[in-house]
Amino acid sequence: MAELVDAHGSGPCAARCGGSNPSVGTKKSAELTRFRRVFYYLHPAKAMSDQLQTNKAGKTLFYDPEVHRIRSFVTRTGRVSSGQERAIQELGPSFCVPYEKKQLDYLTLFDRQADTIFEIGFGMGETTATIAEALPHLNFIGVEVHTPGVGALLKLIGEKGLKNIRIIQHDAVEVLENMIPDNSLAGVHVFFPDPWHKARHQKRRLIQPPFVQFLCTKLKPGAYLHCATDWENYAEQMLDVLNAEPQLENTANGYAPRPDYRPVTKFEKRGLRLGHGVWDLVFRKK
Ligand SMILES: C[S@@+](CC[C@H](N)C(=O)[O-])C[C@H]1O[C@@H](n2cnc3c(N)ncnc32)[C@H](O)[C@@H]1O
Repeated sequence: MAELVDAHGSGPCAARCGGSNPSVGTKKSAELTRFRRVFYYLHPAKAMSDQLQTNKAGKTLFYDPEVHRIRSFVTRTGRVSSGQERAIQELGPSFCVPYEKKQLDYLTLFDRQADTIFEIGFGMGETTATIAEALPHLNFIGVEVHTPGVGALLKLIGEKGLKNIRIIQHDAVEVLENMIPDNSLAGVHVFFPDPWHKARHQKRRLIQPPFVQFLCTKLKPGAYLHCATDWENYAEQMLDVLNAEPQLENTANGYAPRPDYRPVTKFEKRGLRLGHGVWDLVFRKK
C-alpha cells in the first residue's frame, strides 16, 4: 500500500521491549522488562497487542512505530471502568486476537466456515454487538485502538453470549496489511470514522484513494464496503473517493438508504432530532 507521509517524527522508537530489544542488559531496561511482565500479566488484553511495543514513555503503542504514516486515530488515555477491566481479564484471552505479522486463518479463528466481516474502529462496540447478534451466521473481526472500547465490546460479548466476534486492538491499517489475506473478506464496516474537521487534519481521514484501493484487495469479488458518517463534508469526500475507485460499484444512486442491519445509535438519534444528517454509502467490489 502506498505509504502516507510521516506524522510521528522521523526517528524509530528506541524503547521497544521484548527479547529482541537491543538495550536489554542495562539495569534500567531490565527493571522496565520486569515491570512490563507484571503489568501485562495483570492486563492480558494489552499484552496481546503487538508483543508489547511501547514508546519512550512506556505507553503501549497500537501501531508499528517504525512504519511512518499518517494515522487515522490518536491514542487516548480514557478511563477503563471496573466492568470493562473485568471483561478484559475474563473474556480478553478468548476473544482478543494478538496483533502479529502473520495472516489469519478464519476457519481456525472462528472454528467454522462462514463469511467474515471486518470493522474498522468499533468505538464502544454497541453497533458491532447488535449486528453480530442479529447475524449469527457471519463472523466479525472488530478492530479498535481504544482500550475502554475493547473492554466495552468484551462486556457486551459476555452479556449477549456472542460467539461470532473477535477483537484486535491495533491500527486497522496494519491489521489489514499483515493479518488479512487478499480476497478474503465478505464485507467491511466503517461507521462514523473520525471526521477530522479541521482542514489541516483532513489528511488523517481514513477514506482516501490509496487506502480504499488497498482495502479493495482484501475484499472478495461481490463483497461490500459500507461507510456511514454524520459529517456532510466527509460524506461528500467518501462518495467522490468510492465512485472514483475502479474496483468498486455503487449499490445505490449516490448515498444509500441505511441498511436494516445497521442500528441507529443513541448518538445518531440525538443528531437526527437536532436536524443533522447521516449518510450511508454501500459499494460492492466488482
Ligand atoms: C468516531 S469513533 C466511531 C466509533 C463507532 N464506529 C461508532 O459508530 O460509534 C471512531 C473510532 O475509530 C477508531 N479508529 C480510528 N482509526 C482507527 C484505526 N486505524 N484502527 C483502529 N481503530 C481506529 C477510533 O479509536 C475511534 O474509536
